[in-house]
Amino acid sequence: MEVTICIGSSCHLKGSQSVIASLQRLIALHHLENEVELKGSFCMGECMNNGVCVCIDGERFNVTPLGAEEFFRTEIMKRLGK
Ligand code: FES
Repeated sequence: MEVTICIGSSCHLKGSQSVIASLQRLIALHHLENEVELKGSFCMGECMNNGVCVCIDGERFNVTPLGAEEFFRTEIMKRLGK
């Protein structure tokens, strides 16, 4: 699974580094390094949203630093069938 996190300037201000750090930590915690690949992207044209733009296999989500753990549980783990 490919998870792309926007690191454009607007998403950077909304905490993209913190979203990345949380996802990295959770991926390591659940030993999913071989199943989930994190990537960075420049602006994906979703700057108007409240959170950071994150894309899973082409589907876009809006993730705040505080919501990163829930996003991991409800979207990433669910898609992996865990
Ligand atoms: S900077 Fe992230 S969508 Fe524009």
